[in-house]
Amino acid sequence: MHLVRWSQRRRGRVGEGVLTGRAAGQRGSGAGTAKELLFADAGLERRDGALLLSGVPLVEVAEQAGTPAFVYNAEAIRDRYRSLDLALGPVPHRICFAVKANGNLAVLRILRDLGAGADIVSSGEMARALAAGFDPEHIVFSGVGKTADELREAMRAGIGHLNVESAEELELVARIAEAEQAQVRIGIRVNPDVTTKTHPYISTGKSGIKFGLPTDQVVSAAEFVLRHPLLQLTTLAMHLGSQLVDTEPFRQGIKRLLELVEQVRRAGTTTLQVLDIGGGLGIRYSDERSLEPAAFAAAVLPLLAPTGLTVYLEPGRFLVGSAGVLLTRVLYRKHSGGKEFVVVDAGMNDLVRPSHYQAYHEIVELVEHGRPGVRADVVGPVCETGDFLALDRDLPGLKAGDGLAVLGAGAYGFVMASNYNSRPRPPEIIADNGKWWVARPREQVEGLFNSEKVSP
Ligand code: LLP
Repeated sequence: MHLVRWSQRRRGRVGEGVLTGRAAGQRGSGAGTAKELLFADAGLERRDGALLLSGVPLVEVAEQAGTPAFVYNAEAIRDRYRSLDLALGPVPHRICFAVKANGNLAVLRILRDLGAGADIVSSGEMARALAAGFDPEHIVFSGVGKTADELREAMRAGIGHLNVESAEELELVARIAEAEQAQVRIGIRVNPDVTTKTHPYISTGKSGIKFGLPTDQVVSAAEFVLRHPLLQLTTLAMHLGSQLVDTEPFRQGIKRLLELVEQVRRAGTTTLQVLDIGGGLGIRYSDERSLEPAAFAAAVLPLLAPTGLTVYLEPGRFLVGSAGVLLTRVLYRKHSGGKEFVVVDAGMNDLVRPSHYQAYHEIVELVEHGRPGVRADVVGPVCETGDFLALDRDLPGLKAGDGLAVLGAGAYGFVMASNYNSRPRPPEIIADNGKWWVARPREQVEGLFNSEKVSP
């Protein structure tokens, strides 16, 4: 039995699925129903009605670890990395995992063990990446607002490339390099002014938004680097946005970068080694197309291969998004104002994407009960009307105590979780070929306030 009636679910609320690019013609291609594809991406299967992730019965995890809880499929992460690595095989490349998508040390270690580098945006992420054992040489430090302390720390740690995003940041880098007497490899993150079809909050490569150096300032930045004895321009970089399912914006952005490569070389730069084309590869959250590595490579490699430069990619979501689920439990059913509600124990503080971006996340039962279906809002316990995981969703009949899995929760899930309403953040669990273990325990309530004082 299908838990979700796909044809009906398509009539969701306006605004649902804004991130999913579900326009006509973007339906999942290839074999299998949309749900089968989602299950395959995650490494989920049903056995006698029970839901398994990497061979682990999720109902067992929910019972023993409690809910809400994030569970990540290690093997699915490895598969994703290997498929991308293989597709980029024809060119020298490095896949730098965007730590912001999922900073769990065990997840980082899985990727490091496969040879990944890391893309970081803060000293917190630097500390995590180093703690997980990434070679500092293989770390790229991006970010529009790095502080002097963060830049100094990065130089002391020997971070591979500093991707600067403004002329003022570059001047600060130069001053700190002088004070530290450090040789620094610089990347210029360019704003290539490319339009992308994604949610406006996560479109980052268009002129008029805060990211990157405008193309008309790149040559003068390169000249500044050229004049400075401690700086070396190694990289031109871009990041267009997130959850991109079309290859055309990547091609456009790369073409802009290649024009700039020519310009900075004409201005005297001889040290370029890397073209960093950012992250943003989109995944399947419902029935939209995802960006498959082979199609991505077929689109971008013909532009990149002739340059002889090493290609850096900064994927976050693509590597971990589908591999993670959020386990939750039904607390109550309720009928109010002509609507059905399913109140669950996970809220917007645990997974903010539905509230924040009106993002669609598939929700399935941990054990199929086969009850008659219902259309309902799935809402959390947080005291905000915007606290929901799904709106007007066709679901199987649910009862208090039923376990659910929210799919596509491996990226921008736990990392965006908060303690709002003094709710401890959920545990993070690894499922790996029939075994599971707690990589980060559930937070304890006392830990939320034990450094606070009640008086001076
Ligand atoms: N590189 C840079 C410089 C970035 O800013 C980002 C994401 C990435 C790489 C990785 O992008 P990805 O491959 O994961 O799409 N919280 C939002 C996503 C924000 C993405 C921010 N930057 C969400 O939940 O959809």
